[in-house]
Amino acid sequence: MDKLHIKGGNKLNGCVKIGCAKNAFLPILAGTILCDGIVKLNKYPLYKDIINMTNILENLGATKKEEDGNIELDMTNLTKYEIPSNLAMLTRSSIFSLGAILGRFKKARVAYPGGCDIGTRPIDLHLRGLRALNVKIVDKRGYINCDGSNMKGGVIHLDFPSVGATENIMMAGVLTKGTTKIVNGAKEPEVVDLQNFLNKAGAKIKGAGTNLITITGVDKLNSLEYTPISDRIITGTFILACVICGGEIVLENANSHHLEALTSKLDNSVCKIWNKNDKIIVNCNGTHKAITKIETMPYPGFPTDLQPQIAAMLATSKGTSVIVENLFETRFKYTNELVKMGADIIIKDRSAIIKGVDKLYGAEVYATDLRGGAGLVLAGLMADGYTTVGNIYQIERGYENLEQNLSDLGANIKKISV
Ligand code: UD1
Repeated sequence: MDKLHIKGGNKLNGCVKIGCAKNAFLPILAGTILCDGIVKLNKYPLYKDIINMTNILENLGATKKEEDGNIELDMTNLTKYEIPSNLAMLTRSSIFSLGAILGRFKKARVAYPGGCDIGTRPIDLHLRGLRALNVKIVDKRGYINCDGSNMKGGVIHLDFPSVGATENIMMAGVLTKGTTKIVNGAKEPEVVDLQNFLNKAGAKIKGAGTNLITITGVDKLNSLEYTPISDRIITGTFILACVICGGEIVLENANSHHLEALTSKLDNSVCKIWNKNDKIIVNCNGTHKAITKIETMPYPGFPTDLQPQIAAMLATSKGTSVIVENLFETRFKYTNELVKMGADIIIKDRSAIIKGVDKLYGAEVYATDLRGGAGLVLAGLMADGYTTVGNIYQIERGYENLEQNLSDLGANIKKISV
């Protein structure tokens, strides 16, 4: 029942260290299932989705040790090849484990996944990919039952570069005899990071980040230590917070190359962004202009996961902006909450038409999903008066101590229990 209580109007100044990417850590945790040994992952972030995924690994038989912000997983004695619905419903990423469980046990029983309510989120591409590897799948009473006893390499052409399907098929191919090719796979940096993690453990994968990923089956993956990449969506959220509020912030452990789709949209006459080694520095005067059109796209296009946060900025940007959401059909639910704060937003099919208003006003709003919730927090930071954001468990699925980080930068924000 916790809420975030925000008083808008403060500029942001100071430094934030960005943690590891949720969307890199989650598939890597699934990838540990393929490792017959001990996996040490550095900078273990305490996002709720990551904790839920770690619980799934423990339920399969893994044992964990957490020390100095890192996690060590002993994957030698896995006994189960099933993910029950009470665990699967807590995170969409449970579905990534399907390919890894199949790779290790040549059989799997996994309940349908939960996750953000932002669209229908089918898993047909995942299942089609596994069938191309000769997996027999029976879909019964909310469980996906897989027989992989005759698995062999195959060629999968994805109709759409789905991140999850690409990662799932990649993991299914690692311990499967023969060569697996994924054509039109997702090119997200997190997919490349999963390749790097698996290769460090002994896999033979090449081409992640390009149109063709080739996986040559190996017999075994071993113990390893790995540090996943930093979170580009959290980085982008802080960049937009600074654009909205004004001020100067330094984002440490950040990768500017992963955010070019965002930074190229921001007007450099009101907002300067530059980088120095692994730091991104953002200096903004607090004014912002409308953006004629933003379309969310697979990487390297504009990320759907930053769509609500940029909408919060556009809500008070001079002029009219249009956002077209091409990935998730109901990802505009949070706009009803922004309208409560005085925003002028009309949704037509997959587009949001945003007419910039002079000011937003504090209101009681609710996070409809993870990134939508982050957008509402950003709106609260610039609104006149007090905003409370409820349902913050949604936000905590992908942000760790967001209120503490923003408060360290000078924002007036705190978590309250009601
Ligand atoms: C991942 C990210 C999520 C991000 C999304 C798009 C993780 C843990 N989550 O989600 O934060 O918003 O990528 O960048 O990495 N689709 C199908 N059939 C399928 C699979 C997907 O039609 O079998 C469609 C989806 O409905 C959606 C599109 O493909 O329209 C993209 O989904 P996908 O790339 O699979 O997203 P996720 O992997 O779920």
